[in-house]
Amino acid sequence: MDIAQIMYRPGLMQGERILVTGGGTGLGKVMAEAFLYLGAEVHICGRRGAVLEATADELMTRHGGTVGAHVCDIRDAASIDAMVAAIWAQHGPLTGLVNNAAGNFISRTEDLSINGFNAISDIVFRGTFYITHNVGKRMIAENIRGNFLAILTTWVWNGGPFTVPSAMSKAGINVMTQSLATEWGRYGLRFNAIAPGTFPTKGMTERLSPGNSQGLQGQNADRGNPMGRVGEMHELANLAVLLMGRGADYINGQTIAIDGAGYQANSGNFYQSLSRMDDQQWADMAAMIRGANAK
Ligand code: HXC
Repeated sequence: MDIAQIMYRPGLMQGERILVTGGGTGLGKVMAEAFLYLGAEVHICGRRGAVLEATADELMTRHGGTVGAHVCDIRDAASIDAMVAAIWAQHGPLTGLVNNAAGNFISRTEDLSINGFNAISDIVFRGTFYITHNVGKRMIAENIRGNFLAILTTWVWNGGPFTVPSAMSKAGINVMTQSLATEWGRYGLRFNAIAPGTFPTKGMTERLSPGNSQGLQGQNADRGNPMGRVGEMHELANLAVLLMGRGADYINGQTIAIDGAGYQANSGNFYQSLSRMDDQQWADMAAMIRGANAK
């Protein structure tokens, strides 16, 4: 990310202590960097300790401050509880949680196994609730004004063909965002979400557009976009800071798209690009995605 494109004053996020799930790579890393750069203490969690440690070191070398790295699979509620308790005990109360961790792969729904459905919904649907519930209860008990942000997708509004477990799960989190914005607003907790369009990351490309060079789909993600391009990381980070910082706190219960109007122009989902693939193309896709999962 080009940090010079962060549009806020230095120190804006001083006093904040924010946990970003899936913060070792991709969009989570970008948001973590912006919060750190603006003065927040940042914590990142994920499944791979070495990746998290490398990111924490890289960001602290670049910007100073504190980035805590925590190995935690958010599918495991006990592991979440241990991590959040450790942050609270060793650093102090969290003031913010970014629900960024996700899992996804494209598949015809008739080809999905129950395990495949669970692999995604356990991360996105259940895991996001587990950690939100854990952090939220602690904030309520200690009277902390907290900010919650979920990374969703525009599919929450019109469905996600070929990504049904992800679309269903993220739609559930969209409703959680609206529900808790109202239920827990009285405790000073607010809940918002971002629905990004295409912001290319390694994890996303490997599972949603594998084999770009073969032209199956995704290689021209920018072609149908009214702005003629994909998203730039600093754009997402600037929106995340707006929603997680203090200054526009009256924004509550909103899901904001940042997609160049791709949703309005072409539905933002995979219907057009994937609905004409044949059996062989799907088999090739699945092999490539499984290869990425195995890494
Ligand atoms: C069909 C598949 C499959 C595929 C896995 N499975 N890949 N089925 N097609 N391509 C099935 C497996 O066969 C197995 O079922 C079940 O899913 C679990 O697979 P595992 O590999 O054991 O799961 P696990 O190691 O837990 O990995 C979870 C994962 C993986 C979700 C499958 O992709 C992952 O770890 N993802 C994290 C990162 C990620 O996905 N990033 C992209 C996010 S992009 P069986 O029946 O065989 O046992 C995103 C953006 C959305 O969310 C919005 C974009 C605009």
